Amino acid sequence: MEHTDVLIIGSGIAALQLATCLSKDMNVIVLTKSSIGEGNSPYAQGGIAASLAPEDSPFHHYTDTLEAGRFINQKEAVLQLAKEAPEIISDLVSRGCNFDLDESGNLLLGMEGSHSHKRIVHGGGDQTGKTIVDCLRQHVGDHINIRENTMAYSLLLDQDGACCGAKGRGSDGTTHTFLASHTVLATGGCGQLYTFTSNAASATGDGLALAYQAGAKLTDMEFIQFHPTLLYKDQETKGLVSEAVRGEGGFLINESGERIMENVHPLKDLAPRHIVAQTIYKQIENGHDVYLDISGIHGFTERFPAVTRLCLDHGIQIEGGKIPVAPGCHFIMGGVHTNEVGATTVKGLYAIGEVACTGVHGSNRLASNSLLEGLVYGKRLALHLSSTTLSAIRKPVVKTPQPLPYVDLPSIADIQQRMMRGAAIVRTKETLRDVKQWLEDFEFEAQLEHTVESCSAEQITRLFMLTTAWLITTSALQREESRGGHFRSDFPFEKKAWESVHINHTMPIKKG
Ligand code: SIN
Repeated sequence: MEHTDVLIIGSGIAALQLATCLSKDMNVIVLTKSSIGEGNSPYAQGGIAASLAPEDSPFHHYTDTLEAGRFINQKEAVLQLAKEAPEIISDLVSRGCNFDLDESGNLLLGMEGSHSHKRIVHGGGDQTGKTIVDCLRQHVGDHINIRENTMAYSLLLDQDGACCGAKGRGSDGTTHTFLASHTVLATGGCGQLYTFTSNAASATGDGLALAYQAGAKLTDMEFIQFHPTLLYKDQETKGLVSEAVRGEGGFLINESGERIMENVHPLKDLAPRHIVAQTIYKQIENGHDVYLDISGIHGFTERFPAVTRLCLDHGIQIEGGKIPVAPGCHFIMGGVHTNEVGATTVKGLYAIGEVACTGVHGSNRLASNSLLEGLVYGKRLALHLSSTTLSAIRKPVVKTPQPLPYVDLPSIADIQQRMMRGAAIVRTKETLRDVKQWLEDFEFEAQLEHTVESCSAEQITRLFMLTTAWLITTSALQREESRGGHFRSDFPFEKKAWESVHINHTMPIKKG
């Protein structure tokens, strides 16, 4: 059993920002099922949004974020995020982060969908996530203890329901107990719930399921963002082709060369992501092939080295000027409900980054607001915890698991296919009901409570995926309208009455 002041579960940008901004007087453990800096963060291409151009302002950034989120965002949280963005960039610059600069040494600002101004700060061309991870890793001090290849499978609760740490399963099957004054979920999202995804293999909804299992409130789980352009080859998606490509003049065509975003939205190829993704989806459903035309982008390989490498790895000749694309799951706007410093509804438990629902994204995240959110909330939580008097570590309640009949869990591919068919870009009552019923047959709540202790890391992953899939599907079934990343073909329009409605889930916790 190990004791620490702060236990951070996850190791992406939000986790590293928090760890490196915490007071050096605090002991910190960073617990990760993979390796430090792995996961979605290093894959992030586009950049970080910040209103730095002279004609731009946090207010413009705020209004663009609300428009993309279809106005269900927490407005005060959005305004604060937009206001803090410029400082987050200057913090990173002063910590030595190598963002791309123009010849005069000023930050180069890119364009992405639904932004009214150029405000995307980027690094290594289209390798912004990696650039930031590399920078933050340099600031990991001796007070930060990194524990790799250990998957958190259960949060520890005291007799009052407050969180006091977590249990983890090593890749060799060993069990590790971490007692902590503060426990932070920074586990990222759940893109692996879908067959088509831009996400790393580790994005399996772990933090969402852990929070649910601990009785925390989860909000807005129906809002899933599909990124319009993943490289598409042999009926499979192969990785992200940044929206910044369209920001630099790329546009979408079908096999006949028709521009598919004409007459769909005034912003055409730079329309909000859900509009572009739905348009590509319809084209593919109707038997068309969709391509990103990059023939007009000069210096493509220098500006987009990661996309160039991805295409080369999959035998796509970018000299041909066309990249075949299809939409894939990219981001969850909902998550563990948090306040302005990242506190959840469970005492002692916090959430930052994609796993959290701070309310800033509404129903559809504006491009390049995710790294920003992770960095802003990581720093805020660090300031909050560093100024909070540490209480004595609480004593966890030891639970007595009940013997349960054995239930064979489905494979990961099975879960992905079901979610792709029934709860992806286009949903209906029937498709959602089918998936929900299928998920419930696996009795995942009882499994979470009683059998997780004896599961392997691989079984825990499937259990967490089932739990997260159920949260998404159940919320999507309840929301009888279409908004942002949630499109119901049986309720195809936004309804004003739903603008103030948030769907919440909390698992009742039995003590002892
Ligand atoms: C992209 O580069 O298109 C992804 C960036 C983001 O999701 O904000």
